[in-house]
Amino acid sequence: MLQVSNLTIKDTKNGQVIVKNISFSIEAHTCLAIVGESGSGKSMTVKAISGLHNPWIHCNGKVLFERVNLLGQTTKAMQEIRGNQIFMIFQDGTSAFDPSCTIGETFSEILLENHQCTKKDVESSMIAALEKVLLRNPLELLKKYPHQLSGGMLQRTMIAISLALGAKLIIADEPTTALDTITQYEVVKEFIRLRQEYAATMIFISHDLGIVRKIADYVILMKDGELVEEGPVEEIFQHPKSSYAKYLIGTRRELGENYNQLMGGNLQNA
Ligand SMILES: Nc1ncnc2c1ncn2[C@@H]1O[C@H](COP(=O)(O)OP(=O)(O)OP(=O)(O)O)[C@@H](O)[C@H]1O
Ligand SMILES: [Mg+2]
Repeated sequence: MLQVSNLTIKDTKNGQVIVKNISFSIEAHTCLAIVGESGSGKSMTVKAISGLHNPWIHCNGKVLFERVNLLGQTTKAMQEIRGNQIFMIFQDGTSAFDPSCTIGETFSEILLENHQCTKKDVESSMIAALEKVLLRNPLELLKKYPHQLSGGMLQRTMIAISLALGAKLIIADEPTTALDTITQYEVVKEFIRLRQEYAATMIFISHDLGIVRKIADYVILMKDGELVEEGPVEEIFQHPKSSYAKYLIGTRRELGENYNQLMGGNLQNA
């Protein structure tokens, strides 16, 4: 569905090469996770794919989405593609909504702009989508303003919007990082459902390797703007090849063991 070839991203203001000649692809109905330390170029890569980078950021290479090169598209064409084909979910749900509009106003505007339904059935489409992500009292929710919802509810609303739009590719950039642990768990469950029940195609960026292991089919690992390793998710976790992958996965295992020991110790003391 998506094929990125020799993508290089450069900041023309200071000449910095942010992403260096990376290639990867995503098949329909699969989830690709992008993993790597802070500043490694994960967000820049997905911004380049969706055309959301700043004008002084220059991209070279090819991003083929259903055989169309997205790098050659006009701003307007990209807006349309983002409207109904590629949908982005960011870390902070509040930034995605206009604070002066109710959830219903924003949601219906998006649906009508993208011709996903008629005025007559916009409300029932929104309610059906909100019910799919198990949000209770959808009618009430549509009347609320973004600040009246929790971070988890906003992220679930974003997932509902992507469902209502029938987006072909969902790009989620650390969608659970700003949430507390319990809410994180619930939102991750919704993403997993998106995959299982709706066969969504997804790019998922996360620092949390536990979540990545649950949700992704394929992983690419980035460091300093370069792709250092890639492979099916279990292959990367069980047989990491590069020293960086070994380090990341080893650290996670150690943390897990320390945590278990600590919890076990506490339980014994209790
Ligand atoms: N708007 C921008 N203009 C210029 N350079 C940028 C911009 N945003 C990010 N960068 C640079 O691009 C590099 C990669 O940033 P990016 O945001 O893609 O990292 P990331 O892997 O998503 O990190 P994190 O895990 O912290 O989100 C950084 O070195 C940063 O300095
Ligand atoms: Mg980022």
